[in-house]
Amino acid sequence: MTQNLILIGFMGCGKSCLGTKLAKVFHMSFMDTDQMLTEEFGCSISEFFEKESEEKFRERETALLKHLEKNLKNTVLSTGGGMPLRTENAELLKKIGKVIYLKASEETTYERLKGDTTRPLLACENPKQRIHDLLQQRVPLYTKAAHVIVETDGKSFYELIREVEQIVKS
Ligand code: S3P
Repeated sequence: MTQNLILIGFMGCGKSCLGTKLAKVFHMSFMDTDQMLTEEFGCSISEFFEKESEEKFRERETALLKHLEKNLKNTVLSTGGGMPLRTENAELLKKIGKVIYLKASEETTYERLKGDTTRPLLACENPKQRIHDLLQQRVPLYTKAAHVIVETDGKSFYELIREVEQIVKS
């Protein structure tokens, strides 16, 4: 495949899981921005948020995208859920490849994320309310940042892969 595929969407929407499967099916490389950043930081994202700040994390996300813009080829890229929030990042993503927004409902998102301890943004008293508030704020941004939206609720990985295949062909 000549074009990179970029997966965006809220935490827990399946970017990394689907991304690895897509890369296998399409014979592409797979990369995950969260994974690259944790390797660079030498600590988890939660630890980075604690030691530095969310703002610093966002700066590092932008720096990483600038690097990838010049270097990424034949790759499925899974991105952190906050990546498209900065306008600059949203523009960079569109330059790097075909941006697919994996959209899950609020209910599905909560079901997948309840009990999660790895996401610093959900480490609060009421994660359900937090997910609601963040989705309210972010869905318009994900929508704007994407070339295509794929609804994921109730679909198997097989169905999602077929759907992405159609998108890539069109
Ligand atoms: C974030 C999502 C996380 C990670 C960080 C911030 C967000 O990635 O980048 O905790 O702002 O939504 P996942 O979407 O892979 O969980």
